[in-house]
Amino acid sequence: MRKKITIVGAGNVGSTAAHWIMAKELANVVLIDVVEGIPQGKALDLQQALPIERSDVHITGTNDYADTAHSDVVIITAGLPRKPGMSRDDLLHTNYKIMSDVVSKVVEYSPETILIVVSNPLDAMVQTAFRQSGFNRERVLGMAGILDSGRFKFFIAQELNVSVNNMSCLVLGGHGDTMVPLVGHTTVAGIPITELLSKERIDAIVQRTRDGGAEIVKHLKTGSAYYAPSAAAVEMAEAILKDKKKVLPCAAYLQGEYGINGYFIGVPCKLGAAGLEKIIEIKLTDEEAAALKRSAAAVKELCDVIGV
Ligand code: NAI
Ligand code: 2OP
Repeated sequence: MRKKITIVGAGNVGSTAAHWIMAKELANVVLIDVVEGIPQGKALDLQQALPIERSDVHITGTNDYADTAHSDVVIITAGLPRKPGMSRDDLLHTNYKIMSDVVSKVVEYSPETILIVVSNPLDAMVQTAFRQSGFNRERVLGMAGILDSGRFKFFIAQELNVSVNNMSCLVLGGHGDTMVPLVGHTTVAGIPITELLSKERIDAIVQRTRDGGAEIVKHLKTGSAYYAPSAAAVEMAEAILKDKKKVLPCAAYLQGEYGINGYFIGVPCKLGAAGLEKIIEIKLTDEEAAALKRSAAAVKELCDVIGV
């Protein structure tokens, strides 16, 4: 039987995730939103693309959580996005209420599911989902590192005029200004970027990666990025549903790994049928380890504000 993915929030990220899933013929999709008409209209539009894309998945648009029952994976994108001048953290209180409400309903109908949280501020929202769901850490993950790494990879590939397929890198830490791009683990076809670019250029690209979301918000003016974020969330869902054992940077609940305990932070994770199958601990430089700790402290500060 085909797998089932529920996407909560039929806005930009949610509906684009549905589009990627449909195009990959990955799973049946239930698109659910609090606003009446939006998930139904977007689902109908996507359904009409099925014969064009030659995809046989089922797509449902709904406001009723009963339709989400027995989902294998639930991607949560419900919440407000950033407007120009807003940080991800400005969304904290509103999105906390939305996340708590959404997770309680999701869990009622899909107690065995695996949650992939996208809503911002990401690390505090995935912690909210973890607490609210009562799931073990294997079944609650946050999406950010794949997006941040994608941005870092793209900017380097563009700078060097090489294929994005040659790029390998990891961006760890929280999804915010404190993210930690690991320059020492960044390679082009196995060649360290430190051999291809000057320190000044690398530093500039690291900064552009940190500001990657804000740069898009500035252009769009009415919302934030959604093509790359939705592609990243679907990459996680695909790794889980196809039991790929894929190593990806994701926000995972740490229990002492990297010297951090009790918070979600972006680290290399092996994803497979069980969800989070392993957190991979790599050796960091003293500077990187300190940056990761600072990032965790920033995540803790937000979690403390909402008491999760
Ligand atoms: P959007 O405004 O286009 O869509 C959000 C949707 O959530 C809307 O359709 C809204 O009606 C719905 N919603 C609000 N309350 C709800 C509830 N209680 N139940 C169900 N649906 C509800 O926003 P967009 O661009 O799709 O972004 C969604 C979230 O994802 C934002 O918080 C944004 O900041 C975050 N985001 C996170 C990224 C990451 O890297 N983790 C990347 C991009 C976006
Ligand atoms: C981004 O990084 C808004 O978190 C979102 O684009």
